[in-house]
Amino acid sequence: MPLLAVTYVKGRPGATTTALGLAAVAPEWARPVVVECDPAGGDLTRRHRLRAAPSIVDLAAAARGVASPGDVYAVASQQLLVADVAVPVVGAPAGGAQTRAAVPELTGSGRAVLTASDRVVVADCGRLGPGSPVWPLLRQADVVLVLVRANADEVAHVREHLGELVDAGTGRMVVLLGAGGAYPAGEVADVLAAHVRGELAGDPEAVVVLGPLPDDRRAAAVLDGDLVAGARWRRLPLMAAYARLWTDLAPYLPVVAPQSSDTAPEAT
Ligand SMILES: Nc1ncnc2c1ncn2[C@@H]1O[C@H](COP(=O)(O)OP(=O)(O)OP(=O)(O)O)[C@@H](O)[C@H]1O
Ligand SMILES: [Mg+2]
Repeated sequence: MPLLAVTYVKGRPGATTTALGLAAVAPEWARPVVVECDPAGGDLTRRHRLRAAPSIVDLAAAARGVASPGDVYAVASQQLLVADVAVPVVGAPAGGAQTRAAVPELTGSGRAVLTASDRVVVADCGRLGPGSPVWPLLRQADVVLVLVRANADEVAHVREHLGELVDAGTGRMVVLLGAGGAYPAGEVADVLAAHVRGELAGDPEAVVVLGPLPDDRRAAAVLDGDLVAGARWRRLPLMAAYARLWTDLAPYLPVVAPQSSDTAPEAT
């Protein structure tokens, strides 16, 4: 079942914000759960004042002994409220040591906890680096969303990582432009396609470029746990952009086909 990995290669382009925002506005069919797999440690527990447990440590323990993968998230997740939507979240302690130990447990052979669920698992994989424990996870992912701000530095970095990502045999690679970049999506797509074709001798269509996301401090503050959402929070530009993104991603996420464009999976 579908695994959507969110990662980035430079800066702080909004990966955690995007993982939570996508889950908050997901269509009903997705029934998303956010899993914090960032090897540098999680942020959602502190930002949203969740309990320390259950966490990714419990998810890893459940993955070792689980009978039915569907039950794992009932045991290991907490409900994070974004306005009237309860988003199931498997948080991770800050610091990262426990996450670095837990992630291989989630992706090891015979451990299908991230892929055998009947819901879209949105994995916040943090910053991609050599030797990162999330590489096996990226290989299992149906979609790898690489957040990039469209400026010269970040695009250059993502271009250099494209080879590794293509070689890793991940699912559909989507470069998502974060807020605040200088170049339009078309220009970034041309640069990356030329690199894939010329340097990697690959199929330039293997990489899709979407975005940019709007610079929306209000919505970002809601997703940071710093601002209580107003009644019309779904209309905030960033939330609306995340909702539209599901339409682009749905074809690559092999759950049952979307029934409708309804959102608000678990309204309380
Ligand atoms: N589209 C956006 N508009 C305005 N602010 C944003 C947007 N996306 C993210 N932010 C803000 O940028 C900051 C960093 O976001 P986030 O925590 O998602 O980064 P990250 O890519 O996960 O990096 P790291 O894991 O290193 O923190 C947060 O304060 C967040 O509110
Ligand atoms: Mg983050």
